[in-house]
Amino acid sequence: MLAAVVERYGPPEVLTVREVATPKPGPGQILVRTHAAVATPSDVAFRSGKPWIARLFSGLFKPRLPILGDAFAGVVAEVAADVAGFSVGDRVAGSAFGAYAQFVVVDAAAAVVRLPGSIGFGEAAGLSDGGLTALPFLRDTGLLAPGQHVLVNGASGSVGSTAIQVAKAMGAIVTGVASTRNLELVRSLGADRVIDYTAEDFTAARSIYDIIFDAFGTSSFGRCSGALKPNGIYLTTVPSLSLAMLRKSGRRARFSATGLRPPAEKGRDLQQLVGWVVAGRVRIVVDREYELGEIAAAHALVETGRKIGSAVVRIP
Ligand SMILES: NC(=O)c1ccc[n+]([C@@H]2O[C@H](COP(=O)([O-])OP(=O)(O)OC[C@H]3O[C@@H](n4cnc5c(N)ncnc54)[C@H](OP(=O)(O)O)[C@@H]3O)[C@@H](O)[C@H]2O)c1
Repeated sequence: MLAAVVERYGPPEVLTVREVATPKPGPGQILVRTHAAVATPSDVAFRSGKPWIARLFSGLFKPRLPILGDAFAGVVAEVAADVAGFSVGDRVAGSAFGAYAQFVVVDAAAAVVRLPGSIGFGEAAGLSDGGLTALPFLRDTGLLAPGQHVLVNGASGSVGSTAIQVAKAMGAIVTGVASTRNLELVRSLGADRVIDYTAEDFTAARSIYDIIFDAFGTSSFGRCSGALKPNGIYLTTVPSLSLAMLRKSGRRARFSATGLRPPAEKGRDLQQLVGWVVAGRVRIVVDREYELGEIAAAHALVETGRKIGSAVVRIP
């Protein structure tokens, strides 16, 4: 099969597309013929080896797993004899290492769901990208309750654009922070209010928000705490020193490594997310679609920090 392979840490060009052995599904597994994957900031960290802490997961001196990519969508090509619930030909999406390839092996009881025909493969791969971060942050770490005021910073990115819609679906009153060019997009995703970060500092507000979710990770708990209600919670996708001060007069700060959750939990969340997409409550924003041979360009886009929603990679 064809795969984008990384044998050393470096710039986007270290991704090379070549023939590798097709994996075989073991007991409890299915083989998925991949149609779409996405390029994410985590993939970029595992390709570049930066920040260094990423190497604790990806290998100290060179990438331990040469095929990157985590979010995938495609069609079931093979099913192990002991697997029930999936058949050859099913359209599926999920999260499993090695998605930058024509085939990926997935534990059938883990992070994989069947897709209705109405959801395209590119969109579905995007759902595993932002959705599997936004939903657990807001529901499990933020304990979001209906009627609460939620602010999402980085509202035009993959995590942020999904977080706006997940928070709305959970009954929150939502403010999205984005730059001028993305304000309309964020409004169209259902935000009740938008803030242009080039014109207004959202951290200057006083005691307004129950939850501030920094999906992009440019703020700090110290700067945001005054904008939180007395029992409010600050959530960030990026750990920082300010998290050391976990409480400030009743206000709390939390980071969560949502990518490291048990795959079965991710599978349940994907069911919920697909349900919201089918019900028209959530739509996946796709910046651009790239061919597998253009995967270095997809990584270069992610590195700009300016992508809008997900950068989808089409697998031939
Ligand atoms: N903790 C976890 O388990 C976990 C899981 C997944 C992802 N993450 C992390 O979450 C972060 C976000 O990922 P992502 O894929 O959503 O990122 P992304 O899509 O690359 O975010 C890019 C977006 O952020 C906006 N942006 C850039 N600078 C901004 C600023 N100063 N204020 C507000 N918005 C700004 C950009 O819009 P403009 O250019 O218009 O500003 C762009 O639309 C990454 O750092 C990723 O590593 C963490």
